[in-house]
Amino acid sequence: MVQELRKKLRALRRPVHDKSKLDIRGVKMLFVTGITGHTGKWFLKRLVEENYKGKIRCLVRENSNTDLIDKSGLNIEKVYGDLSNKSSIENLMSGVETVVHISTILFSNNVIDAAIKNNVKWAILVHTTGRFSKYKSASEEYINIEDGLIEKRDKIGITVLRPTMIYGSSGDRNMYKLVDYLYRHKFFPMFGQGENLMQPVYAKDLGDAYYDVLMNKDKTFNKDYNLSGKAPIKYIDLVRCVSKTLNRKNTLVKIPLWLSVLSAKIYNVIDKKAIISVEQVLRMQEDKDFSYEEATKDFGYSPISFEEGIKGEVEEYLNSRQRGK
Ligand SMILES: NC(=O)c1ccc[n+]([C@@H]2O[C@H](COP(=O)([O-])OP(=O)(O)OC[C@H]3O[C@@H](n4cnc5c(N)ncnc54)[C@H](OP(=O)(O)O)[C@@H]3O)[C@@H](O)[C@H]2O)c1
Repeated sequence: MVQELRKKLRALRRPVHDKSKLDIRGVKMLFVTGITGHTGKWFLKRLVEENYKGKIRCLVRENSNTDLIDKSGLNIEKVYGDLSNKSSIENLMSGVETVVHISTILFSNNVIDAAIKNNVKWAILVHTTGRFSKYKSASEEYINIEDGLIEKRDKIGITVLRPTMIYGSSGDRNMYKLVDYLYRHKFFPMFGQGENLMQPVYAKDLGDAYYDVLMNKDKTFNKDYNLSGKAPIKYIDLVRCVSKTLNRKNTLVKIPLWLSVLSAKIYNVIDKKAIISVEQVLRMQEDKDFSYEEATKDFGYSPISFEEGIKGEVEEYLNSRQRGK
């Protein structure tokens, strides 16, 4: 009883701190967005593997699944917010030294403005190679956002990472659909010859890259990097590779480009909710291979091949089918 009372008295004498303020006093703080996403999870995993000791503040949404953060054992403070609402994130960045913004380029302006207001020194932004598309509808918005941000480099250091198409698990929204399609169908319609080059990047390689960029500030500060997979691969070979890894005998039906375009035109006239546009058919013919030489030179970026990376994704797919999901 007496002991209990003493304990309570001691607690009363201790200065009362607002926990969020206590965490940020004079300490170098990392602020991360998008850590619950496909590549963000790999970044978190790497931080855990490296036993990262610094303070991390993760911006998540009310309904984000934060299990991995909660179990990480790292010095993580979760804050809730919505990146689309600039004023809501401004007061979450006080005391922050560096931002790793994984979420999406569409919120980069909000993030950078909030960061500048809070005197943040460095922001690592995950953007996209989409800016290099020759089709304005695909690239214009990205170019405008990026070029506007780069002008703010006198106020804050900005490093831009530009992944190509990301794959690696059911968490991607591209390759998993192709895996599923090839598993369930014998025939695969290919718009055009499929000779265009792609260079998808494995999600784990990106998570590692975010970490390595962070750790090599002397070289990566204020620079831009394209982050692609090990080597370019023709679209037709990519489809064949997925088919082979699935152990399926798919037949690829090449539809000449002129016919593909015509079909897409007719389809879009008939169906107002068409799932593919004429321009998307044309964009599929674009080469999307990008050199990562700078990244290798500056922070040892060494991505795996598509043939290697797709194995795990196919395995995950087959396992989920076996479980009846
Ligand atoms: N997918 C591709 O092929 C591709 C290609 C090139 C570049 N990129 C870019 O690469 C980056 C990483 O991709 P990823 O696949 O890791 O992304 P992802 O899996 O889509 O994850 C997005 C993350 O952003 C969070 N988020 C979304 N809207 C938010 C909001 N309004 N406020 C706060 N947080 C929000 C999500 O939180 P919740 O957990 O709550 O959903 C999630 O953590 C992204 O910037 C993406 O645009 C993607």
